[in-house]
Amino acid sequence: MSSAEKVNKGGLPSLLISIADGVIDLGWGHPSEALHPLADVRRAAEFVLGGESVAALQYGAVQGFGPLLESLAGFLSNQPAYGMSVPPDQLFLTSGASQGLDMAATLFTQAGDTVYVEEPTYHLAHGIFRDHRLNVVGVATDAHGMRTDALEDKLTKTESPNPVALYIIPTYQNPTGRVLPENRRRRLVELAEEHDFIVFADEVYQMLHAGAPPPPPLAAFDNTPGGRVVSFGSFSKILSPGLRAGWVQAHPALSARFTGSGFAISGGGVSHFASNIANATIALGLLGENIARLRAAYGDRIRAVDAALREFLPGRCAYATPTGGYFFWLDLGEGVDTEALLPYAQWAGVSFLPGRLFSVDDAPSRCLRISFALYDADGLREGIHRLAQALDAYTADRDDHDD
Ligand SMILES: Cc1ncc(COP(=O)(O)O)c(C=O)c1O
Repeated sequence: MSSAEKVNKGGLPSLLISIADGVIDLGWGHPSEALHPLADVRRAAEFVLGGESVAALQYGAVQGFGPLLESLAGFLSNQPAYGMSVPPDQLFLTSGASQGLDMAATLFTQAGDTVYVEEPTYHLAHGIFRDHRLNVVGVATDAHGMRTDALEDKLTKTESPNPVALYIIPTYQNPTGRVLPENRRRRLVELAEEHDFIVFADEVYQMLHAGAPPPPPLAAFDNTPGGRVVSFGSFSKILSPGLRAGWVQAHPALSARFTGSGFAISGGGVSHFASNIANATIALGLLGENIARLRAAYGDRIRAVDAALREFLPGRCAYATPTGGYFFWLDLGEGVDTEALLPYAQWAGVSFLPGRLFSVDDAPSRCLRISFALYDADGLREGIHRLAQALDAYTADRDDHDD
């Protein structure tokens, strides 16, 4: 037990995650303990606090800690997954994509406005939109993500109000793992300009490619005069979520809205201390090494899940092997309701997130999401073994009832 954990005598939880004993919970998109770069963050903290400077303990500048704005801009510009130059004046530092999205909703929407999302989409974004009393409308997706033809139809043919914003996860989507191709990225920005809405592009998985890099982030396609894309990045997936540090990338006209917000002016730069740590990991060359390690580890796990699905569920689920990110999206086929499968999974000692959770329309779903972030290859294999046992028991019961 760590000293920090020992301090907690009241029994209140320390972490967001909680898993019943003995269960392999494939529902959590949180990194394994072994993937947290403890030694790197310790070195970075010594770099920040080792001298006499107390600047890391002061309020930070409104746009965010200047040295990180500069080092991050350089770092992103050199990433194969970016394929674009990122000037520092396009960046605003946040305490993660969730806080950035919440802030964007504050700055760019009003209660009652409509926001379009992918159907299915990241279930926890629903809560943020609900807090802002937004009307959330799903847009159809296919194997390549949001269908821009369906989006155009909705924008031009439906009676419902046009959106003020559209939220999308273009790369290694949560929950499906899909990647939006370049032509759709381009079209999406054109539609945003034609129909006057802002695109909130949640790109937290952009750098986690297992093989070839994905298309550049959506901001790379935004050549509009006033800016249409607000892109959210995060250190959560490439360093550690506990740091609560991330960034927004947008046309300077849009990023200025963040910098000028009452929130930033009152509290100063968001996550100033964590930004100092993040900057040190870039300055010391540790961030790039960590991302390379994560890509290799997640690539191995993708192969492990793939092999286990073939071994334990051959012909019983359809899926596209993800090329990066955190997730497999499994389609268990006709007649399966993955929510009804959950109690069987509990019996078998495994868990997952049922597709219904990600549906804006709250539609029952034959799909489920599993994450390969939390468990190593052996844990994943055993989890899928148990999932197959759960599916056997569920199908046997269902078939008994049908007789
Ligand atoms: C699509 C998506 N956006 C945002 C987040 C949360 O990011 P952050 O930790 O930067 O708030 C997650 C984490 O699961 C995610 O999957």
